[in-house]
Amino acid sequence: MIKISPSILSADFANLERDIRRIGTADYVHVDVMDGLFVPNITIGIPVVKAIRPTTDLPLDVHLMIERPVRYVEQFCDAGADIVTVHVEADTQENTEAALPFLSQCDILLVMTVEPGFGGQAFMADMMPKLRQIRQWIDEQNPGCELEVDGGIDPVTCRTAIASGANVLVAGSAVYKAADIPQRIKELRG
Ligand code: DX5
Ligand code: ZN
Repeated sequence: MIKISPSILSADFANLERDIRRIGTADYVHVDVMDGLFVPNITIGIPVVKAIRPTTDLPLDVHLMIERPVRYVEQFCDAGADIVTVHVEADTQENTEAALPFLSQCDILLVMTVEPGFGGQAFMADMMPKLRQIRQWIDEQNPGCELEVDGGIDPVTCRTAIASGANVLVAGSAVYKAADIPQRIKELRG
């Protein structure tokens, strides 16, 4: 089953509770945390995760785009995060294989299909070989691990990502710009 994790980066921050209710048919709520160092943008942090926790029963999928994320993982979990993803290149040089030794301990692996930092960018189809390679590793080593893609997912690119092995799709603008959000969430399932 394909899961959809709408990114509240594209929601109206002045009406977050309303906009989280609007994605009630999705599987996760994707929360993009940016520190202005790891990426050239600053978004939201621990107090906001805490504040939105009681507004939904959906798992909070918290994506940390911050330097040395290990400093804050525990605090995000305490604030109500159900899933926490970090960037291997936030601590080491960028290298997909850096995640490989930890695969057996991961519940989810995230592959970016845009440069992290902003919503509304174009899908990078050239990440598909990496996605297929990771899908193969997951199937061999930890079949229960989820494979999430993030960036530029829309009703067309979702099919490419699914065909390359993704089972969790993050979508910000494609969900929040849709006139009919439940219908769009359905379309994104492929
Ligand atoms: C980008 C964020 C994404 C972003 C996706 O750095 O990690 O989660 O919100 O937005 P769209 O779906 O508009 O590309
Ligand atoms: Zn994200």
